Amino acid sequence: MNTIYRKGPLPRYYQLKEIMREKISNRDWLPGQLIPSERELSEQYGMSRMTARQAITELVNEGLFYREQGKGTFVSRHKITQQLLHLTGFTEDIRARGQRPSTRVLSMSMSPADEKTADYLRIKPGQLVFTLQRLRLADDEPLAIEVSHLNFIGCEKLLEEDLEQHSLYQLLETKYGMLLLEAEQELEAGLISSKEAEKLKVPIGSPALYTRRTAYIERNQPIEYARSIYCGHKYVFYTSLKREQ
Ligand code: GLP
Repeated sequence: MNTIYRKGPLPRYYQLKEIMREKISNRDWLPGQLIPSERELSEQYGMSRMTARQAITELVNEGLFYREQGKGTFVSRHKITQQLLHLTGFTEDIRARGQRPSTRVLSMSMSPADEKTADYLRIKPGQLVFTLQRLRLADDEPLAIEVSHLNFIGCEKLLEEDLEQHSLYQLLETKYGMLLLEAEQELEAGLISSKEAEKLKVPIGSPALYTRRTAYIERNQPIEYARSIYCGHKYVFYTSLKREQ
């Protein structure tokens, strides 16, 4: 199917969607490839730009395409499957997939904990915490923004570390002797805000996955409370469930 039938029962935007779907499944259009613009598609298939836009927008909403501000629309790459079975860090996860992790530190500070953070870290409000905000990338593609709060006691030296070159979990475990034991994690659906969109290079309102993790070094002794925002169209979270006997 490569032509638009004008007299048939199927709306034109729908037919264009099917044509584009086929181009992806035939691998005429490859993951990461820029697709033709609305103008090009409307000229090629003899339809209005609005109709072409509707077809593209629906495939963006279905996750087959993604938009990059100022660049155009691209064919989605295979989603990253993030297991939720073991306690791992971003660097380990990306390396395990054969990709190159990198980090941009957006801010780093030592400040008094607010009530919520103190509660998660089981410390007193006002006690010092180390706060680290990072943009996390794989093969130079931004995937997530993470804000980690760490109980400052024992982590004082983190302020002097180069956290663009080093994994936080690796530093904690190998340099600070803090072995991670377990974590609790919540997942929530959301939308990318304007501030996040700029950093993650996706349009405002794209799907987002929010995670909140409390990682422990001993039972009842949290070391990290982290909030992360993942690009929703790039991730699948996987877990395995056993039925209670
Ligand atoms: C995950 C967690 C974060 C944690 C990070 C550590 O992404 N969501 O809470 O801080 O891993 O990653 P790394 O060891 O690469 O710094």
